[in-house]
Amino acid sequence: MPNPGQYVRDMRLCYGNCITVGVLGNRRQVILAGPAANRMVLLDAGENFSSRWGWEVVRAHFPGMVLLRDFADRRLHRRMTAPLFKPEVLRRPMIEKDPVIRESLESWPEAVDVNCGNKRLTLEVALRVFGGFEGGAVNEPLCRNMATLLDNVLAPPGIRRWRGLRARDRLRRSLHRELARRRQENGEYLFTRLAAWTDEVGRRLSEGDVVDPMLGLLFGAHGTTASALTTRSIKLAEDPVWQERLRGECRAVRQDFGEKLT
Ligand code: HEM
Repeated sequence: MPNPGQYVRDMRLCYGNCITVGVLGNRRQVILAGPAANRMVLLDAGENFSSRWGWEVVRAHFPGMVLLRDFADRRLHRRMTAPLFKPEVLRRPMIEKDPVIRESLESWPEAVDVNCGNKRLTLEVALRVFGGFEGGAVNEPLCRNMATLLDNVLAPPGIRRWRGLRARDRLRRSLHRELARRRQENGEYLFTRLAAWTDEVGRRLSEGDVVDPMLGLLFGAHGTTASALTTRSIKLAEDPVWQERLRGECRAVRQDFGEKLT
């Protein structure tokens, strides 16, 4: 569908805020539009709406994601992870003390495929921010496998999907190996904190309960952000006012980085 937003707007004009559509194999899907519907579904005080069933397509590939947990199970994961998502926690010590974004941008050539560059950049940030993984050659296999996963896993059944799933399994094995080390540490990265988390009676999370949400988060956070950045770049590049501004900014950046970018 080239323009899903417009499609929903047109349907709302014809039929109102509650619309049923038939999708693949004529399965029925309900679109609830507008603020009242959003409130009802997202707050879901009566626990009527399952996220797990809603994201079936993701469930086949990333069974342990937070997104796929419902009700009490979701609340438990939220309670564990919410403190770790506060901006000050994510910023410290990674982004502030760490030149990961600058280093990654400095390595971009003059002519760059912005989408590939953004995917790589956001993955490096995610690996650093959530996992404390240092950049460079050590993480090359992680980055390569994540790129293969992202590019292939949602393809229709066939060789591409298979390739994506193999990359996911390699990533999962790497994270399992890393977990053994994290269990011994006392760091502040999300991965290490999940590894060390215990409930009221001192029980730890199982290996799968640490590794699968971590993998889901790396996958979900960086692909989406890379797409958003790329879309923004396209919009800016199409806008004549911004074209002029960007030319100015490029000159300023070049001056900043000196020879490296020229
Ligand atoms: C432009 C960038 C992003 C987009 C478009 C996006 C989109 C989404 C969407 C559509 C969902 C599913 C919501 C639902 O149906 O319940 C979601 C869930 C989630 N996203 Fe993002 N996301 C983005 C960036 C991020 C980033 C950077 C992070 C991590 C810092 C993140 C972490 C999560 C988590 C943890 C969930 C699961 C929440 C839950 O189920 O409790 N996302 N995201």
